[in-house]
Parts: sequence; structure tokens; C-alpha cells
Amino acid sequence: MTVRIVPSILSADFARLGEQIATVSAGGADWIHIDVMDGRFVPNITYGAKVIETVRKLTTLPLDVHLMVVEPEKFFDDFASAGATGMTVHTEVSPHLHRQLDRIHELGCRAGAAINPSTPLSAVREVLPELDLLLVMTVNPGYGAQKFIPYSIDKVRRARAMLTDAHSRAALEVDGGIGPDTIHAVWDAGADTFVAGNAVFCAPDPKAEIAALRALCGVTV
Ligand code: DX5
Ligand code: ZN
Repeated sequence: MTVRIVPSILSADFARLGEQIATVSAGGADWIHIDVMDGRFVPNITYGAKVIETVRKLTTLPLDVHLMVVEPEKFFDDFASAGATGMTVHTEVSPHLHRQLDRIHELGCRAGAAINPSTPLSAVREVLPELDLLLVMTVNPGYGAQKFIPYSIDKVRRARAMLTDAHSRAALEVDGGIGPDTIHAVWDAGADTFVAGNAVFCAPDPKAEIAALRALCGVTV
């Protein structure tokens, strides 16, 4: 199975963003994860189209944009123009999830749906044919460097079974607290796409860390 290691720039040093993106791009990162937060859906605020546009100029890697915002549809056009490759919206703020996923596709982007730790997998069941990516949050969204919620492993296992049953080719992404101590268990449970902020950007050698995380997938322990 494909393994994608996806550094989140939330933990990058923004004074050295160009250098850090170059390091992880050359170091084998598969995508770059961009966390957009609005201070409403989540308690924190981060960045928007300007940073997506900046990162687009710094790397040719796909840009995986995670929208932790209310009314995410207000941003789709700007983010697509700024260079997003994929956009992931939270089911908790999206009563018209099908329409939103359709619109993301119309803009030429990969469409993803995210679920918080307390949100059941059934929130995405009816839209599985539309999904290019299912993001199972393994922390409550809002901040980097939080502790992985251990019972997420069972949810990831059930998510993989649900995707398999539906013959879905969607990526199964996990985000939050992913690092050397947790990645093997979520890989074993069926995740294939691993967001890592703190683990990669706070490591002494981000390139070696990406390789180490990848090596921990596929190893029987
Ligand atoms: C959390 C964000 C994550 C965050 C992960 O709300 O969605 O993408 O950057 O950070 P780590 O890997 O440090 O837990
Ligand atoms: Zn994220």
C-alpha cells in the first residue's frame, strides 16, 4: 500500500519557511499539509490563501489544505487559485457536504472530508463515492504537538474496513500526534497518509525523521 508522509507547516519556523520546505521536499515528503484555522471552528487562528500561494512557489509537491473553518465554501475559489491540490472540509461544519465536495472537484482539486475524534464514521458514509481523502483526526483539531488519542486506532481500523467495503480508493489520512511512537499502529490499522508537524519540523534532522517514519510503516513489530 502507498505510504504518504505529509509534513504540516504548522510546526515550521516561518522565519525560515523556504529553507524548511526545501528540506522536507528534498527529504522525501509526499505532500505538504497546510492547516487553515479561523478561531471559530477551532480556538486557534493560522493562515489562508497568502500562505498557500507562498508555499506553492516554494515546492512542486501537492498541497494538502485542511480547512478548520466554519463556512469553508467561502474559501474554495481563493485557495484553488492560490495553488491548493486538495481541500479537506470538516463534516461538523458542513450540512451540505455533497455540494461542497462537488465544488472542490469543479475547481480541479482533490476533495477530502475530515472527522473529529468525537464524530462517528457514519458522518461520511453517504458521500464515500465523492471522496478522494478521508481524514480521521487523531487529536482535537486546533494545535500542533498534542497527544495522540489511543482509541483512534480502532476508528482507523473501522474506517479502512468501510472504505474497502465501498470499493473506495480514497486516501485514509491521520492527523495529530503522529510520530515514531504512534505511526506504526495507525499504519497497521489501515491508514496510508500520515500528517506530521511536530515530529518532522522539531526533529534535529527532518529528512532523517521522514525516512524513519516511512520505515516504521510496513515493519512487523
Ligand atoms: C491539528 C492540525 C495538525 C497539526 C498536527 O489541529 O490539523 O495538522 O499540524 O500537528 P502534530 O503532528 O504536531 O500533532
Ligand atoms: Zn491538519
